[in-house]
Amino acid sequence: MPRVFRQHLLFAVLLILFTLPANAGDIAAGEKHFKRCASCHTVERGGPAKIGPNLWGIVGAPVAVNEAYAKKYSKAMKSHGGIWLPERFDAFFKRPKAELKKTKMSFAGLKKDAARTDLIAFLNAQSDNPLNYTAEMEGAVEAQQHEESEFGVLIAERGAEETFIYYTACHSERIVAQQGLTRKDWIELLEWMVDEQEMDVIEEPDYTLVVEYLARNYGIDRPNFPAN
Ligand code: HEC
Repeated sequence: MPRVFRQHLLFAVLLILFTLPANAGDIAAGEKHFKRCASCHTVERGGPAKIGPNLWGIVGAPVAVNEAYAKKYSKAMKSHGGIWLPERFDAFFKRPKAELKKTKMSFAGLKKDAARTDLIAFLNAQSDNPLNYTAEMEGAVEAQQHEESEFGVLIAERGAEETFIYYTACHSERIVAQQGLTRKDWIELLEWMVDEQEMDVIEEPDYTLVVEYLARNYGIDRPNFPAN
Protein backbone atom coordinates (compact mmCIF):
# COMPACT_ATOMS: atom_id res chain seq x y z
CA MET A 1 0.00 0.00 0.00
CA PRO A 2 1.43 3.47 -0.79
CA ARG A 3 2.59 5.18 2.34
CA VAL A 4 0.50 8.28 2.02
CA PHE A 5 -2.58 6.20 1.56
CA ARG A 6 -1.73 4.11 4.60
CA GLN A 7 -1.43 7.22 6.69
CA HIS A 8 -4.81 8.37 5.56
CA LEU A 9 -6.20 4.99 6.38
CA LEU A 10 -4.73 5.16 9.86
CA PHE A 11 -6.16 8.58 10.34
CA ALA A 12 -9.55 7.36 9.16
CA VAL A 13 -9.41 4.57 11.72
CA LEU A 14 -8.59 7.07 14.44
CA LEU A 15 -11.39 9.35 13.39
CA ILE A 16 -13.87 6.52 13.45
CA LEU A 17 -12.72 5.49 16.90
CA PHE A 18 -13.38 8.96 18.17
CA THR A 19 -16.62 9.71 16.48
CA LEU A 20 -18.49 6.44 16.86
CA PRO A 21 -20.95 6.77 19.69
CA ALA A 22 -19.89 3.94 21.94
CA ASN A 23 -22.78 4.13 24.33
CA ALA A 24 -24.29 1.19 26.05
CA GLY A 25 -28.00 0.77 25.55
CA ASP A 26 -30.18 -0.10 22.64
CA ILE A 27 -31.62 2.99 21.00
CA ALA A 28 -34.43 1.13 19.22
CA ALA A 29 -35.51 -0.55 22.44
CA GLY A 30 -35.27 2.81 24.18
CA GLU A 31 -37.62 4.33 21.63
CA LYS A 32 -40.24 1.78 22.61
CA HIS A 33 -39.84 2.62 26.28
CA PHE A 34 -40.27 6.27 25.42
CA LYS A 35 -43.92 5.51 24.63
CA ARG A 36 -44.44 5.61 28.38
CA CYS A 37 -43.21 9.18 28.41
CA ALA A 38 -44.86 10.35 25.21
CA SER A 39 -48.21 11.16 26.77
CA CYS A 40 -46.47 14.02 28.56
CA HIS A 41 -43.35 14.73 26.49
CA THR A 42 -42.42 15.35 22.87
CA VAL A 43 -38.81 14.65 22.01
CA GLU A 44 -38.38 15.89 18.43
CA ARG A 45 -36.41 19.07 17.80
CA GLY A 46 -38.63 22.08 18.38
CA GLY A 47 -41.52 19.92 19.60
CA PRO A 48 -44.15 21.56 21.81
CA ALA A 49 -44.43 21.21 25.55
CA LYS A 50 -47.19 18.89 26.69
CA ILE A 51 -47.75 18.21 30.36
CA GLY A 52 -43.95 18.13 30.60
CA PRO A 53 -41.25 19.96 28.60
CA ASN A 54 -39.92 18.96 25.17
CA LEU A 55 -36.89 16.70 25.63
CA TRP A 56 -34.76 17.32 22.51
CA GLY A 57 -31.11 17.51 23.55
CA ILE A 58 -31.91 16.85 27.21
CA VAL A 59 -28.96 14.51 27.86
CA GLY A 60 -26.07 16.75 28.90
CA ALA A 61 -28.33 19.82 29.25
CA PRO A 62 -28.77 21.79 32.47
CA VAL A 63 -31.82 20.85 34.51
CA ALA A 64 -34.99 22.91 34.01
CA VAL A 65 -33.87 25.35 31.31
CA ASN A 66 -36.50 24.75 28.64
CA GLU A 67 -37.71 28.27 27.86
CA ALA A 68 -41.14 27.25 26.65
CA TYR A 69 -41.64 25.47 29.93
CA ALA A 70 -39.93 27.99 32.20
CA LYS A 71 -43.07 29.03 34.07
CA LYS A 72 -44.29 25.51 34.61
CA TYR A 73 -41.38 23.82 36.33
CA SER A 74 -41.95 22.94 39.96
CA LYS A 75 -39.78 24.65 42.55
CA ALA A 76 -38.25 21.28 43.24
CA MET A 77 -37.11 20.85 39.64
CA LYS A 78 -35.89 24.43 39.38
CA SER A 79 -33.73 24.03 42.44
CA HIS A 80 -32.52 20.56 41.46
CA GLY A 81 -29.64 22.18 39.56
CA GLY A 82 -26.73 20.71 37.66
CA ILE A 83 -26.67 18.80 34.41
CA TRP A 84 -28.76 15.88 33.23
CA LEU A 85 -26.08 13.22 32.98
CA PRO A 86 -26.87 9.56 32.46
CA GLU A 87 -26.41 8.58 36.09
CA ARG A 88 -28.80 11.31 37.28
CA PHE A 89 -31.38 10.25 34.73
CA ASP A 90 -31.03 6.73 35.89
CA ALA A 91 -31.92 7.66 39.45
CA PHE A 92 -34.72 10.00 38.33
CA PHE A 93 -36.36 7.55 35.93
CA LYS A 94 -36.18 4.71 38.41
CA ARG A 95 -38.49 6.49 40.85
CA PRO A 96 -38.96 10.18 40.08
CA LYS A 97 -40.58 11.02 43.38
CA ALA A 98 -37.95 9.24 45.43
CA GLU A 99 -35.18 11.14 43.67
CA LEU A 100 -36.95 14.50 43.61
CA LYS A 101 -39.69 14.52 46.22
CA LYS A 102 -41.81 17.40 45.05
CA THR A 103 -41.51 17.02 41.32
CA LYS A 104 -44.66 17.56 39.29
CA MET A 105 -43.78 14.61 37.11
CA SER A 106 -46.38 11.97 37.88
CA PHE A 107 -44.65 8.89 36.70
CA ALA A 108 -44.13 5.81 38.85
CA GLY A 109 -40.78 4.88 37.36
CA LEU A 110 -39.05 2.34 35.18
CA LYS A 111 -38.00 -0.53 37.41
CA LYS A 112 -35.86 -2.45 34.96
CA ASP A 113 -32.24 -1.34 34.76
CA ALA A 114 -31.96 -2.29 31.08
CA ALA A 115 -35.08 -0.31 30.20
CA ARG A 116 -33.58 2.83 31.74
CA THR A 117 -30.24 2.27 30.03
CA ASP A 118 -31.96 1.87 26.66
CA LEU A 119 -34.20 4.86 27.25
CA ILE A 120 -31.22 7.06 28.11
CA ALA A 121 -29.43 5.87 24.96
CA PHE A 122 -32.52 6.82 22.94
CA LEU A 123 -32.78 10.25 24.56
CA ASN A 124 -29.07 10.83 23.99
CA ALA A 125 -29.56 10.18 20.29
CA GLN A 126 -32.29 12.86 20.15
CA SER A 127 -29.77 15.66 20.16
CA ASP A 128 -27.49 17.79 18.03
CA ASN A 129 -24.56 16.71 20.21
CA PRO A 130 -25.03 13.23 21.65
CA LEU A 131 -22.69 12.55 24.54
CA ASN A 132 -20.17 9.78 24.26
CA TYR A 133 -20.87 8.92 27.85
CA THR A 134 -20.03 5.25 27.95
CA ALA A 135 -16.55 5.96 26.70
CA GLU A 136 -16.23 8.53 29.44
CA MET A 137 -17.54 6.17 32.06
CA GLU A 138 -15.29 3.36 30.81
CA GLY A 139 -12.44 5.81 30.89
CA ALA A 140 -13.27 6.57 34.50
CA VAL A 141 -13.42 2.87 35.35
CA GLU A 142 -10.11 2.20 33.62
CA ALA A 143 -8.58 5.18 35.33
CA GLN A 144 -9.66 3.68 38.65
CA GLN A 145 -8.23 0.31 37.74
CA HIS A 146 -4.93 1.96 36.99
CA GLU A 147 -5.21 4.24 39.94
CA GLU A 148 -1.58 3.84 40.76
CA SER A 149 -0.77 5.04 37.24
CA GLU A 150 -0.36 8.73 36.66
CA PHE A 151 -0.84 8.28 32.98
CA GLY A 152 -4.57 8.11 32.56
CA VAL A 153 -5.71 4.90 30.93
CA LEU A 154 -2.25 3.89 29.76
CA ILE A 155 -0.65 0.73 31.05
CA ALA A 156 1.87 1.79 33.67
CA GLU A 157 5.16 0.54 32.31
CA ARG A 158 8.47 1.98 31.26
CA GLY A 159 7.76 4.46 28.47
CA ALA A 160 4.21 5.25 29.62
CA GLU A 161 5.19 8.65 30.93
CA GLU A 162 6.89 9.74 27.70
CA THR A 163 4.05 8.37 25.58
CA PHE A 164 1.51 10.12 27.74
CA ILE A 165 3.33 13.45 27.54
CA TYR A 166 3.66 13.44 23.76
CA TYR A 167 0.22 12.15 22.95
CA THR A 168 -1.67 14.32 25.35
CA ALA A 169 0.01 17.36 23.81
CA CYS A 170 -2.52 17.09 21.00
CA HIS A 171 -4.64 14.01 21.70
CA SER A 172 -6.18 12.11 24.51
CA GLU A 173 -4.12 9.21 25.79
CA ARG A 174 -7.10 7.12 24.75
CA ILE A 175 -5.96 7.56 21.18
CA VAL A 176 -3.24 5.16 22.20
CA ALA A 177 -5.24 2.86 24.38
CA GLN A 178 -7.86 2.21 21.72
CA GLN A 179 -5.37 1.37 19.00
CA GLY A 180 -3.70 -1.81 17.97
CA LEU A 181 -0.96 -1.28 15.40
CA THR A 182 2.26 -2.92 14.30
CA ARG A 183 5.50 -1.29 15.32
CA LYS A 184 5.96 -0.07 11.74
CA ASP A 185 2.53 1.54 11.72
CA TRP A 186 3.11 3.21 15.07
CA ILE A 187 6.29 4.68 13.64
CA GLU A 188 4.43 5.94 10.60
CA LEU A 189 1.67 7.34 12.75
CA LEU A 190 4.22 9.24 14.83
CA GLU A 191 5.80 10.63 11.65
CA TRP A 192 2.44 11.66 10.38
CA MET A 193 1.61 13.40 13.64
CA VAL A 194 4.84 15.36 13.38
CA ASP A 195 4.50 16.14 9.66
CA GLU A 196 0.84 16.98 9.53
CA GLN A 197 -0.48 17.42 13.04
CA GLU A 198 2.19 19.74 14.35
CA MET A 199 3.28 17.40 17.05
CA ASP A 200 6.81 18.09 18.33
CA VAL A 201 9.52 15.81 17.04
CA ILE A 202 10.23 13.26 19.73
CA GLU A 203 13.97 13.24 20.39
CA GLU A 204 15.99 10.27 21.52
CA PRO A 205 16.03 8.61 23.95
CA ASP A 206 12.31 9.29 24.34
CA TYR A 207 11.54 8.29 20.78
CA THR A 208 12.76 4.73 21.24
CA LEU A 209 11.03 4.48 24.60
CA VAL A 210 7.73 5.58 23.10
CA VAL A 211 7.94 3.29 20.08
CA GLU A 212 8.95 0.31 22.21
CA TYR A 213 6.21 1.06 24.67
CA LEU A 214 3.57 1.31 21.96
CA ALA A 215 4.70 -1.78 20.12
CA ARG A 216 4.89 -3.81 23.32
CA ASN A 217 1.60 -2.75 24.86
CA TYR A 218 -0.57 -1.68 21.96
CA GLY A 219 0.41 -4.05 19.19
CA ILE A 220 -1.64 -5.56 16.43
CA ASP A 221 -2.89 -8.39 18.67
CA ARG A 222 -4.17 -5.63 20.89
CA PRO A 223 -3.46 -7.30 24.22
CA ASN A 224 -4.80 -4.24 25.94
CA PHE A 225 -7.64 -3.38 23.64
CA PRO A 226 -10.69 -2.66 25.80
CA ALA A 227 -13.17 -5.51 25.61
CA ASN A 228 -16.64 -4.60 24.42
C1 HEC B 1 -47.73 12.17 33.52
C2 HEC B 1 -46.85 12.99 32.73
C3 HEC B 1 -45.39 12.61 32.62
C4 HEC B 1 -44.86 11.41 32.27
C5 HEC B 1 -45.57 10.10 31.97
C6 HEC B 1 -43.44 11.61 32.20
N1 HEC B 1 -43.13 12.91 32.51
FE1 HEC B 1 -41.27 13.74 32.53
N2 HEC B 1 -42.03 15.46 33.25
C7 HEC B 1 -43.36 15.70 33.47
C8 HEC B 1 -43.51 16.98 34.11
C9 HEC B 1 -44.82 17.62 34.54
C10 HEC B 1 -42.21 17.49 34.28
C11 HEC B 1 -41.81 18.77 34.99
C12 HEC B 1 -41.50 18.32 36.39
C13 HEC B 1 -41.25 19.39 37.41
O1 HEC B 1 -41.14 20.56 37.05
O2 HEC B 1 -41.17 19.02 38.59
C14 HEC B 1 -41.31 16.52 33.72
C15 HEC B 1 -39.94 16.66 33.68
C16 HEC B 1 -39.10 15.79 33.05
C17 HEC B 1 -37.69 16.01 32.85
C18 HEC B 1 -36.89 17.23 33.27
C19 HEC B 1 -36.79 18.16 32.06
C20 HEC B 1 -35.96 19.40 32.25
O3 HEC B 1 -36.19 20.33 31.45
O4 HEC B 1 -35.10 19.46 33.12
C21 HEC B 1 -37.23 14.92 32.17
C22 HEC B 1 -35.81 14.68 31.73
C23 HEC B 1 -38.33 14.03 31.98
N3 HEC B 1 -39.44 14.59 32.52
C24 HEC B 1 -38.24 12.84 31.32
C25 HEC B 1 -39.29 11.90 31.27
C26 HEC B 1 -39.15 10.59 30.73
C27 HEC B 1 -37.91 10.03 30.05
C28 HEC B 1 -40.33 9.94 30.92
C29 HEC B 1 -40.67 8.50 30.60
C30 HEC B 1 -39.90 7.52 31.30
C31 HEC B 1 -41.22 10.89 31.55
N4 HEC B 1 -40.54 12.07 31.75
C32 HEC B 1 -42.53 10.64 31.87
C33 HEC B 1 -44.41 14.87 33.14
C34 HEC B 1 -44.28 13.54 32.78
